[in-house]
Amino acid sequence: MQIYLNGRFSSRDEATVSVNDRGFLFGDGIYEVIRVVNGRLFRLEAHLKRMDRGIQKLEIPFSDKQRDELPGIMEKLVAENRLQSGEGTIYLQITRGAALPRTHAYPPAETPPTVMVMASPFVPDTDILEKGGHAITVPDIRWSRCDLKTVNLLPNVMAAQEEKKRGAGGVLMVRDGFITEGYKNNAIAVFGGTLWTYPDSPYILAGITRDVVFEIAEEEGIPVKLMPVSDEEIRTADEVMLTGTITDIQPVVSIDGHKIGTGHPGPITRLLQKGLRHRMDTE
Ligand SMILES: Cc1ncc(COP(=O)(O)O)c(C=O)c1O
Repeated sequence: MQIYLNGRFSSRDEATVSVNDRGFLFGDGIYEVIRVVNGRLFRLEAHLKRMDRGIQKLEIPFSDKQRDELPGIMEKLVAENRLQSGEGTIYLQITRGAALPRTHAYPPAETPPTVMVMASPFVPDTDILEKGGHAITVPDIRWSRCDLKTVNLLPNVMAAQEEKKRGAGGVLMVRDGFITEGYKNNAIAVFGGTLWTYPDSPYILAGITRDVVFEIAEEEGIPVKLMPVSDEEIRTADEVMLTGTITDIQPVVSIDGHKIGTGHPGPITRLLQKGLRHRMDTE
């Protein structure tokens, strides 16, 4: 498998990063995951825009020229890794680069960022998309800049491990009594035909897939309320779903053992799934 690292294409096994890299030492970097469908990069511009915002907020010295090279690098990786048909993902990571001595504050601005891009085949979990998942809630122990897609993912990793340990299918994180999102997806509840989801804030990542859901909802005349739903209220929702680049739209059919709606994926979830699939296949 060919990957891109700091200006070079090489096999994934050959590519190495310095032990002084601030991504390794401090989690000082950002990432994006982009869906590849039949060789096309779904909503690439939206992902790059979110990446730009992260780079700007974290003051990572990533130049416009480097940014402009990214789509070409991704297309080359898609071709070289034979992803022109079927499903795949692009993973992109930019860290503040390698610097000595190890000091917390940002190194000199001329320190080149580490840029890594890889493309991999992807197999959607069709079983859970069809039948829905039995989700659990966990406390949201993350920091207050969850709007930045940083590689600091330990709380997310711990939430995923809890899901695995308990044989669950989906995790909802709870902050101050309200559902924020999943560890790799946004959470949306349906009450009486209206979508409810946590408002854009430092406590969630504004998902690109969630934006697609908003588009479909507008087209279909489904109202959207950007309002938090409490841990208790969500158990009484008609439908609940998780949305994300590698999640698609996953129905949630129970939460902590409480049945959601009929205990089966609901009609609005199905409509949104269809709309997302259509966009991914045709855009
Ligand atoms: C914490 C978190 N929330 C939401 C999302 C969904 O975002 P997107 O739809 O852009 O993939 C992700 C995706 O990785 C995520 O990690």
